Amino acid sequence: MTNDKVECVNTYLDAEYAGLDDKETIARLKRHVLRLQDSEAHYYATKMTSNKTCCGGHGRIPVHGISAAQAKEQLVQITELDNRPRLNTSSYVNVVLEKEEKEVAVLGLAVNLADGSVYPSSTELSDNTIDAVAKLWNCPKPEESTGHFAGSGTVGSTEACLLALLAHKKRWRLWYQERHGLTEDQVAGVIPNLIISTTFQACWEKAFRYFDVKPNFVYPVLNKLAINPEDIRDKINDKTMMVVGIMGNHYSGTYDPVWDMDKIILEVNEQKGFQVGLHVDAASGGFIAPFQDGLQEWDFRLKSVLSISASGHKFGESSCGTGWVIFRERKDLSEHIEVEVTYLGGTSFSSTLNFSRPATGLYVQAYKFLRLGMSGYKQKVANQLHVTSVFRESMRAYKWINGEPLFQILDADKDMGLPVCSLRVNPKLDVAFTDFTIQHAVGEFHWYVGAYHLSFEDFGNGGVESAFCSDEPKSASMFRVVFKSNLTLALCEDLTSRIDEVITHFKEGAESKKAEVIIQSFKEAKQNKATKTNFHSAC
Ligand SMILES: Cc1ncc(COP(=O)(O)O)c(C=O)c1O
Repeated sequence: MTNDKVECVNTYLDAEYAGLDDKETIARLKRHVLRLQDSEAHYYATKMTSNKTCCGGHGRIPVHGISAAQAKEQLVQITELDNRPRLNTSSYVNVVLEKEEKEVAVLGLAVNLADGSVYPSSTELSDNTIDAVAKLWNCPKPEESTGHFAGSGTVGSTEACLLALLAHKKRWRLWYQERHGLTEDQVAGVIPNLIISTTFQACWEKAFRYFDVKPNFVYPVLNKLAINPEDIRDKINDKTMMVVGIMGNHYSGTYDPVWDMDKIILEVNEQKGFQVGLHVDAASGGFIAPFQDGLQEWDFRLKSVLSISASGHKFGESSCGTGWVIFRERKDLSEHIEVEVTYLGGTSFSSTLNFSRPATGLYVQAYKFLRLGMSGYKQKVANQLHVTSVFRESMRAYKWINGEPLFQILDADKDMGLPVCSLRVNPKLDVAFTDFTIQHAVGEFHWYVGAYHLSFEDFGNGGVESAFCSDEPKSASMFRVVFKSNLTLALCEDLTSRIDEVITHFKEGAESKKAEVIIQSFKEAKQNKATKTNFHSAC
């Protein structure tokens, strides 16, 4: 050790042992020795397994550190207590990562994408990846000198939608100010509206709450959970800053018909001298629709589409924390959200809500583009849609004891949509169980299948809970299975057989009208059933 270091350690030790008498000093030294022994010991032979730690219980940064292996072990233990991500069919987020992909993610961890001067190569990768996404969505060539498309990587669709909203809002504001001859202060007091289906995802709730925008809701009907394009015609007025089309709402995976919405927006703009644009929230569909043959034009080929966003971490197959937003043009649109910084040793542009951020998602997305290629994505999407339809048909085939269909299918079904099967227990049947009962019963096998009410918080009406369909009460419910790429046919067969087991049991107990009684007896029957191999318990 250099003299400086010795000095530093002495100062530290002096401070640590200051004021202690000999007995206390010895006690503390003994604890130090034990800790040193512990740091080399097998994790389960240390005191850590019988003490509360900062991860498990006492929520405080420990006074002294521990070895890397032991710190890791504590976090591994935390993840062990999570549910099984691959069996979570209620989420759209990719949870399967190859070894090399994880290594690439770690490379990205140390890169701060806000700092284009220090990480020019990663910044170039970001620009190139944005270009690849823009081309996938048929964005017209960028005109300006950068040679790159206008867009941004984000942490997910939420940030991407919020950025799009801000760009549209600024664009609308300039237009409205000029149209009405207002000052900047006057126009700042005018609250714009945004037209969107009530099947919007929570990210738009954030938009209404954070950014002073009024929602102008369109209510779909249940058997076609998508906007009826004619419903938007009369809603558009000169305070409409944008219309949102959802390419795959999260409840049913159904696509809003953006191709027809586009026509109506263009007509209204033409008739009334407006400049309303369409944002496509393609959180899930952004990496499914480009690979579906025969789907109508849904992207920048439609003239009114000014921006599109998607989650790279959903069907883009990147890791959690990846999103994309692409703008048709930089001028008068994305330029409104761009911030230039010159204090990091060069000029960098930031067009995200956060400034510093890791390149993890970018690196994994780029890896996935390289690894899968267009043909890989196409095959993957075909697989997902195939498994979805196998599952859907087996659900459709179920009959209740009176011969009536047990389920009503509520997803896009024969139309094109996301690889999602959503359904509900046939409301015409007089049964004692609900969609939620099925969720809980299937959960006994570690499968997570999300059930939910057909309700939303109505921000046009003080946030009261309302029905999101025009033809169903808010108390109605449904459930869905999202067919991520890891949900193979073999796994799907297991899920189907679990549902089968549950339904068979429900049928047997059909006389009992109480759902809890059914669930309880189902649990007991399952525990007593030693013969059938359950792959969850076999793990
Ligand atoms: C239509 C839609 N928009 C936005 C989001 C938010 O996406 P993220 O979780 O990537 O922020 C979702 C998430 O499911 C979604 O389905």
